[in-house]
Amino acid sequence: MNNDLAQLIRSKIDIVDIIGEKIPLVARGKNFFGVCPFHDDSNPSMSVSREKQIYTCFSCHATGNVFTFLMDYEHISFSEALKSLGERVGVDVSGVKTKKIVSKNEKLYEAYELALKYYQNNLNSTIGRSAKSYLGKRNITENLIKEFEIGLSLDKRNDLTTLLTKKGYDLAVLNKIGLVNDDYDIYRDRIMFPLYDVSGRVVGFSGRIYKDTDQNKYLNTKETEIFRKGELLYHYHVAKEECRSKKSVIIMEGFMDVIRASSIGIKNTVALMGTALTKEQINLIKRLSLNIYLCLDGDDPGVHATLNIGQMLLDQEIEVKVIRLPNPDDPDSFILKNGKEKFENLIESALNFSDFKLLKLREKVDFRSDEEKANYINTVIKEMLKINDPIRVEVVLKRLAKEFDIGYNTLEMRLNSLKKEVEEPKKQVVSLQIPHKRKDKYTKAVEQILYFMLNNDWVISQVEKEKLILPNEVFRLLCNEIIYYYKQNGFINIADFYTYMSEKEETLVLLKEILASGYNEKTTKDELFQYFKVVKEYSHNQEIKRLTNLMKKEVDPLEQAKIVEKIRKLRMGE
Ligand code: UTP
Ligand code: MN
Repeated sequence: MNNDLAQLIRSKIDIVDIIGEKIPLVARGKNFFGVCPFHDDSNPSMSVSREKQIYTCFSCHATGNVFTFLMDYEHISFSEALKSLGERVGVDVSGVKTKKIVSKNEKLYEAYELALKYYQNNLNSTIGRSAKSYLGKRNITENLIKEFEIGLSLDKRNDLTTLLTKKGYDLAVLNKIGLVNDDYDIYRDRIMFPLYDVSGRVVGFSGRIYKDTDQNKYLNTKETEIFRKGELLYHYHVAKEECRSKKSVIIMEGFMDVIRASSIGIKNTVALMGTALTKEQINLIKRLSLNIYLCLDGDDPGVHATLNIGQMLLDQEIEVKVIRLPNPDDPDSFILKNGKEKFENLIESALNFSDFKLLKLREKVDFRSDEEKANYINTVIKEMLKINDPIRVEVVLKRLAKEFDIGYNTLEMRLNSLKKEVEEPKKQVVSLQIPHKRKDKYTKAVEQILYFMLNNDWVISQVEKEKLILPNEVFRLLCNEIIYYYKQNGFINIADFYTYMSEKEETLVLLKEILASGYNEKTTKDELFQYFKVVKEYSHNQEIKRLTNLMKKEVDPLEQAKIVEKIRKLRMGE
């Protein structure tokens, strides 16, 4: 373990900066809060402490220091996290060995890397001339071809298959990973767009036709172990960096849209590659920014998808903004026709999702029918229940009153009575902060003592003096580790202690549990002794229980009497 090095590096880094780069944080009191990236949520349940240099999620109980955050967030090993942070703060980490975790998928990625190079080569040689001219006609410049690593598969039976088998790949493997069918290439004579996973590795392809043919426009890699369509978004690995500075993310339908937007310098984009959106993808998007723009195609399916996706996010209390394109433009065609400035104007005038929804509802109403009008008004009022901003609600209701010549009060009364109807069941929603497990008072006392020890040096010596016997082996282990660490270092620091504990799995689980349970930090002697008393009472009762059991099993009446005497003495508090 590189404990000293870890301590040095950690002391030069503020966890708030590192986490703040990955997820949006807001200061509240002395802590910072953000949406936890380690579980499915939209509430800011993760707190980051500048003072303690640890993070804690009160919902999923994820907790740790800056190293564990990076490890879990970026899926890297401890040494990799150490190296990356060390390099960042100028600490010499050349001695740290990062044995790359060779995953069983490594060969898979390699095959994709080879295929990528092969396709790129084709496009850039004379055989790729007509594909190049197609791309040229679509205004896909050389720069874009490079940036998006576009390539070309050839009109040959098994060019890639041969290449890969020569490199030692099994036909069976190549079939499994979606590059080969039987013994021939799946992709033939298509312009190849590599698809990346969230860390930017090529894991699939989408091949587009570029000549007159009745084949499907795009052919996509099938689902494989590394290509799970529902868990990735096109361009995510780039957007990851861009969204941080732009403080927003734009969701588009196709990768052509993303490529086009990139050509005018708009790179905080991801593409769904279709119009569906999964839960996993929503979580990915939330990590980029909570300021989300939807910019789907301007045709009917695009509008329909906008309504669906906007609603899915609104249900998680995220209101997206809708960038509206004229029917039937997509971002690609719009930007080509109108240029950068016009597109930026569209972004500027994006509508809040609820306003967009009202607009769409209104388009469908036949205003000659009183029934339809009334239905429409009622639907709008129902929509208002979901909006937290009272000013916006008032604006909408006033507009509605004026347009349909109805008293504002009538509309407001209707809104209020609807509010009452939905409020009743809402009260039953349980608070976030309730601990996930019910603990008895002994467990609570022990955990609180351990937490005090981590926060206040003097408690450690008190615990030693008392010679407390903690119930349960894991409690004792953690207690001993804290004492040992304290003696080694002369002080206790939770964030560093965390690194020190990282390989002691069983005890680490307990440490995490304690950190995430919201115990008090500062203590008084009186309070501490109260908890000592509870723990002693527990040990006492346990001992009586043990002796009682022993006595019941004892057959020798003389021995039995001895035990009874012992129990009596214990009961008397001797
Ligand atoms: P579009 O049909 O809107 O693609 O589909 P596009 O970007 O406008 O394509 P061009 O401009 O005609 O070349 C949006 C996305 O849906 C997926 C692709 O990922 C595409 O980017 N799609 C579309 C397919 O997977 N297969 C298809 O046959 C069509
Ligand atoms: Mn499109």
